[in-house]
Amino acid sequence: MCDHSNKNIYLPYLTTVAEIIDETPDVRTLRLVFQDEKVNDSFSYRAGQFAEYSAFGAGEATFCIASSPTRKGYIECSFRSVGRVTEELRRLEVGDTMGVRGPYGNSYPIEQLYGKNLVFVAGGIALPPLRTLIWNCLDLRDNFGDITIVYGARTEADLVYKRELKEWQERGDVRLVKTVDPGGDGPSWDGTVGFVPTVLGEAAPSAVNTIAFVCGPPIMIKFTLPVLEKLGFGDDQVYTTLENRMKCGLGKCGRCNVGNVYVCKDGPVFTAQQLKEMPMEF
Ligand SMILES: Cc1cc2nc3c(=O)[nH]c(=O)nc-3n(C[C@H](O)[C@H](O)[C@H](O)COP(=O)(O)OP(=O)(O)OC[C@H]3O[C@@H](n4cnc5c(N)ncnc54)[C@H](O)[C@@H]3O)c2cc1C
Ligand code: FES
Repeated sequence: MCDHSNKNIYLPYLTTVAEIIDETPDVRTLRLVFQDEKVNDSFSYRAGQFAEYSAFGAGEATFCIASSPTRKGYIECSFRSVGRVTEELRRLEVGDTMGVRGPYGNSYPIEQLYGKNLVFVAGGIALPPLRTLIWNCLDLRDNFGDITIVYGARTEADLVYKRELKEWQERGDVRLVKTVDPGGDGPSWDGTVGFVPTVLGEAAPSAVNTIAFVCGPPIMIKFTLPVLEKLGFGDDQVYTTLENRMKCGLGKCGRCNVGNVYVCKDGPVFTAQQLKEMPMEF
């Protein structure tokens, strides 16, 4: 973990935008390098953790750390422009400075996944919080059994990480099922057509010795959990991450809580069992 002994806990590290990748018309990935070389060498995090990213003068936005902890020397975030901070972050160019504080929150229990089959289920812009774990596991491939990825978006254009989808599709040790919503396919589409929960049901990965990770809009999660249940997944075999609005990220402001759970400290990663115990609609 990183040393958070900075005197001001809200003081961000300064980073330089090293690369910009446009994933879709409104989703962009930034590769960031810490300006302090020592921080760049020592910054460590676990898959599932998030950070607060600042556009100076506009404020902070919360994004997961989308790169894998196994890849050193940079971090990446992928975000959709939806408002004040994200629009300001979109104006940044390669070489510009932005702030990052973190890493915050809990993480996926990767060591407990050794020897298991893994199923990743994501919809739309929600692939980034799973991409960190997918690459983490692929970089340690020998430690895991079968890996299945079910990923869908409204249209082909809305799929993020297209170059990585191609890579996963071409690997012999990953089963990628990519889908677009009915009507979202074009003439060159070589995947499935259908909503993610339905396509997951059809792909029917075995629940035996398997852990599933689900990330997507609440409506997708709502319809995916019963499909997993039907396939035989217990609530302790299913993980998801929540994206409640946050401010401090540190368990201090009370902005993110659901009942007595602080999503920024107790989460953002939760099992389906924990979700069911929370006073929220799913
Ligand atoms: C743990 C965590 C991880 C996240 N990871 C990512 C990520 O990897 N990529 C990404 O694009 N986004 C992610 N988000 C959501 C992201 O934080 C918000 O979209 C962002 O803060 C919006 O900032 P803004 O100032 O541009 O928008 P604002 O001007 O604050 O808001 C614009 C609109 O978006 C709505 N909005 C803002 N934040 C949220 C939210 N958290 N949930 C629902 N609606 C919201 C507002 O109500 C408003 O309608 C994550 C959130 C959390 C808590
Ligand atoms: S974001 Fe401030 S307490 Fe969670």
